[in-house]
Amino acid sequence: MAVIHWDPSLSVGVRALDDQHKGLIQALNELHEAMIKGFARDATGPLLEKLAKYTREHFVAEEAMMKRASYPRLGTHQAKHAELTRQVEGFVTRFRKGDIGLNVHLLDFLCNWLSTHIQGEDREYGPWLNRNGVC
Ligand SMILES: [Fe+2]
Ligand SMILES: [Fe+2]
Repeated sequence: MAVIHWDPSLSVGVRALDDQHKGLIQALNELHEAMIKGFARDATGPLLEKLAKYTREHFVAEEAMMKRASYPRLGTHQAKHAELTRQVEGFVTRFRKGDIGLNVHLLDFLCNWLSTHIQGEDREYGPWLNRNGVC
């Protein structure tokens, strides 16, 4: 069972970035499945690290594309990414220290930020990136 399914309502209109979003959703769903199946920490840790790594790489790629297109809301978007990164890295750090485990609250948070950000700020850049020929 997946927490989010990619569907066209999540499309930002840029193929490469849609593909990255699909990868993030898949990584999140793997974490969810591991939680449902009650996997041990040594199995869930790498999945959480993978999601954090994909997130960092995706934000770098997305910001580079917005920069190339001189996207006017780049600064606001970068600030949002920085905040999301801080929150995800915070979870990873606490998980590594053993302060938290994989739980519904963590999954809900990750699922919520991912879908809210893609459907909000990410979808806003689609028309600009397409008009400015970087896709
Ligand atoms: Fe974004
Ligand atoms: Fe994104």
